[in-house]
Amino acid sequence: MVENTAYRKPPKGTQPDYLYPAYASTRKRAPTRPLVLLPQSLSETTGPVFGRDAVGAGDNDLTTQHPGTPLGERIIVGGRLLDEGGRAVPHALVELWQCNASGRYRHRNDRHDAPLDPNFTGCGRTLTDAEGRYSFVTIKPGAYPWRNHPNAWRPAHIHFSLFGAAFLARLVTQMYFPGDPLLAHDPIYNSTADEKARHRLVADFDLDSTRPEYALGYRFDIILRGHHATPMEKK
Ligand SMILES: [Fe+2]
Repeated sequence: MVENTAYRKPPKGTQPDYLYPAYASTRKRAPTRPLVLLPQSLSETTGPVFGRDAVGAGDNDLTTQHPGTPLGERIIVGGRLLDEGGRAVPHALVELWQCNASGRYRHRNDRHDAPLDPNFTGCGRTLTDAEGRYSFVTIKPGAYPWRNHPNAWRPAHIHFSLFGAAFLARLVTQMYFPGDPLLAHDPIYNSTADEKARHRLVADFDLDSTRPEYALGYRFDIILRGHHATPMEKK
């Protein structure tokens, strides 16, 4: 029998607010009336989920999806997916998407005057292993302008999506790079009030996963709930 336990609410300030006026689009989409709490049922924690066989062995390498090698700095991004008790979350679907090294997404809505890279799509996916580990090879994304306010530039970031045991258990967040001067000016990053929680969105440079003559490694552990939870987007 599957046990249905309710998840505890995160401590105040450790997740982004629905309304953060400096992040302009939250003014349009933030709820204007009090939220209605729906009782959590088994359908949130069980039920149909993605097919594991749909994830190919090479889907976690964004540098080998085309005949040529993409431009930019090759990097390795990996870490562990953990629950509130520090336990590994195995066999979870981790997907990422990002712009290329020039700061341009391969998407029709991206009008940034920066070149597309014919050898870079910017999407990847993988499953966590028995210890909750995941790893991607990709290109370090560039900063890009986003018109949220005058002279607005997003710090380099990678979008992550996580699927748990059911389709309703999806979480989305962004990973940043250490030392990026744009972090201090980014309303999305700063929409999480708690500084320590916010900093959990910044990957660590990781010499252990850095491969000689190949690529720098970054470690980004993702914690799903509890006092050390990674801030997740509200949409
Ligand atoms: Fe982005």
